[in-house]
Amino acid sequence: MSNIGNINRILFENGYSYRTRLGLAICNDSLTVLSRFPDQSINLVITSPPFALQRKKEYGNKEQDQYIAWLLEFAKIINRKLTDDGSLVIDLGGAYKKGIPIRSLYNFRLLIHLCDDIGFHLAEEFFWYNPSKLPSPIEWVNKRKIRVKDSVNTIWWLSKSEYPKSDIRNVLVPYSERMKKLIEDPAKYYTPKERPSGHNIGSNFGNDNGGAIPSNLLQIPNSESNSLYLRRCKEIGVKGHPARFPEKLPAFFIKMLTHPNDLVVDIFAGSNTTGFVAEKLNRNWISIENRIDYVSASSLRFIDSNFSTNKLTEIYNSINSGKKINLNNFQKSKTLFDLDDGEN
Ligand SMILES: C[S@@+](CC[C@H](N)C(=O)[O-])C[C@H]1O[C@@H](n2cnc3c(N)ncnc32)[C@H](O)[C@@H]1O
Repeated sequence: MSNIGNINRILFENGYSYRTRLGLAICNDSLTVLSRFPDQSINLVITSPPFALQRKKEYGNKEQDQYIAWLLEFAKIINRKLTDDGSLVIDLGGAYKKGIPIRSLYNFRLLIHLCDDIGFHLAEEFFWYNPSKLPSPIEWVNKRKIRVKDSVNTIWWLSKSEYPKSDIRNVLVPYSERMKKLIEDPAKYYTPKERPSGHNIGSNFGNDNGGAIPSNLLQIPNSESNSLYLRRCKEIGVKGHPARFPEKLPAFFIKMLTHPNDLVVDIFAGSNTTGFVAEKLNRNWISIENRIDYVSASSLRFIDSNFSTNKLTEIYNSINSGKKINLNNFQKSKTLFDLDDGEN
């Protein structure tokens, strides 16, 4: 079945809150919705679950000890629903044990269970460095000054097979100034030679490949206080989602691990950053979130700039009261997705 066929089937069986040109936002428990996908139908699941934090977030999160068992239930189904060359990318924030300045190992334990119990392969571990993260926990960092600021999340890229679909040429990063000079005039800046490490670099090193190979340390500030999403939430007087990830994060993995028209799913969609980015990148998407207020607010991302505050409020209220909305009717302008360019 094609991905469009899959989307139609999911739509038919689950209903939806809103749909766009390429995607569906569904308000439900993702365990229920996931089980209705055909096996081997999803190319990429990328998600940021509610973390196992000691401090309760407004959308609730599980205690650390129950957390792994809870998340493994989702992972088990995801494994069946992914295509053989599909991937699961999961972003996990670090946490301290309750009341003591000792780190929880939950994210590492989860990784081991995902591989040993469910059969995922760790294709590569990534670290998301967010330079704009505020210091916490206050007790250990600000008051007692015995721990440093934790500004790195672990992101596990897991695959169903040993060779998941992947192409790093889609995520090349700008060359350093030094490398640009070397490409301009390789003979002047570099002579191929044997290195003591045995890692010998030949003359191909000076080729222009359109960009440098990125590393598994992703430096992406999460400082989008003036994003389209937040501006629109403010405009109609609703609260934005408190734990959004920056667009660049899902964009990196969607570009590297999928092709246009593939199906990308986020099972803890929150403000639907994933769906929004997938749509920009011409991928089909399905986002599942169990809080209707978050789903309703996330629709604001997809609406053209020429609609009035009253219209935005009307769309939000309709979705919030359980109506299904086809946002295609509000997406005529070609400039829709340019609005957030300042954000990333
Ligand atoms: C960390 S947030 C995700 C934020 C998202 N990455 C974004 O950019 O906005 C996790 C979300 O998972 C949702 N959630 C928790 N349990 C769920 C479940 N069983 N089914 C669907 N959504 C769930 C929460 O309501 C919360 O909005």
